[in-house]
Amino acid sequence: MNYKKFMLQAINDADKYKYTAKPNPVVGAILLKEESIISSGCHEQYGCNHAEINAIENAKKNIGKIFKDFSELTLICSLEPCSHVGKTGSCAHKIVESGIKNVIIGSIDPNPKVSGKGIKILKDNDVSVTIGILDELVEQQNKSFFFKHRNKRPYITVKIASSKDGKSHYPNISQTDITSKESKKDVQIVRANHDAILTGGNTLRSDNPRMNARVHFSLNQPKKILLTNKSFDLTYNFFKDNNVDIHKTKNLDKIIKSYYRDEITSILVEAGPKLVNSFLKANLVDELIVYRSNIELGSDGVDWFEDNNAIEKYDFKLESSCRIDNDIKETYKK
Ligand SMILES: NC(=O)c1ccc[n+]([C@@H]2O[C@H](COP(=O)([O-])OP(=O)(O)OC[C@H]3O[C@@H](n4cnc5c(N)ncnc54)[C@H](OP(=O)(O)O)[C@@H]3O)[C@@H](O)[C@H]2O)c1
Repeated sequence: MNYKKFMLQAINDADKYKYTAKPNPVVGAILLKEESIISSGCHEQYGCNHAEINAIENAKKNIGKIFKDFSELTLICSLEPCSHVGKTGSCAHKIVESGIKNVIIGSIDPNPKVSGKGIKILKDNDVSVTIGILDELVEQQNKSFFFKHRNKRPYITVKIASSKDGKSHYPNISQTDITSKESKKDVQIVRANHDAILTGGNTLRSDNPRMNARVHFSLNQPKKILLTNKSFDLTYNFFKDNNVDIHKTKNLDKIIKSYYRDEITSILVEAGPKLVNSFLKANLVDELIVYRSNIELGSDGVDWFEDNNAIEKYDFKLESSCRIDNDIKETYKK
């Protein structure tokens, strides 16, 4: 049978939960009897049932009606069922217990705790397993989850607002407003798409930003990370949410790698030129988003980058650009 269209549906269904499943990957599952869909399920909320379990539970009401038992059904699952007994128990064992005998998997899980182990449990229990249906799409959908496990650190995006002449701010004033309201709204979505937001001491003191994702849909708010060596009080807006990590060391490599063990797959850096350039020099930027306004700050403004503001020096290639009100949003990747 051609399982691609069902896998595509599972991938599409899963996408609805990308803001509530994170930092977990989104996963969709479908149970089929021949060409008919009996039930479907997704991983809807971090810490709650995985997709396969929801699909199995949703099918149960139809036992004895449209199917006799689970051995008649094929399970389509966009990501390898987990083997470990985490917050919700091992999905691979629950699939075996249900009596399902045929499983079609989109992609192998890149997490070393799971990778290949879920498949082994199924095969050891006489479940037939097919792997690699639309796996590239599953990886694309869970870009930072795959990146983290392959590179042993979270995916890092730097977001900056730049004047037309490549400046960040005026020194010694509290906040320089560069971009439009519409761009600022777009930034909220960029924040919502990350597991953590990181800034430096100077931005904290000069802008007093809250740096949460202010969006009109439910989401797991990003964790916040502050890098500072100085003392500070907790009245800054940044501390209004409880989930703040503070690092006193300036060693970015060490800080970022420490998040491999944490459940964070992506970090958005929102800071001034000092910290942003430190990230660039440490080769710790995977994506750079520039909101470029048509306002010029002139020679009093602080440059974003060295050497005549040459982003190209860091081997970034412009991947996309679009207009937002009077600004241009540019996305660069390595
Ligand atoms: N246009 C924009 O998109 C944008 C965005 C954010 C901020 N800004 C502006 O940028 C200005 C602040 O920028 P900034 O360049 O002076 O400071 P910054 O990059 O925001 O922060 C630098 C601070 O980060 C801490 N830090 C820890 N590890 C570091 C490392 N490895 N390298 C560099 N810094 C490290 C230090 O804090 P401690 O000194 O506390 O130890 C350092 O002073 C503000 O005026 C703000 O308005 C503009």
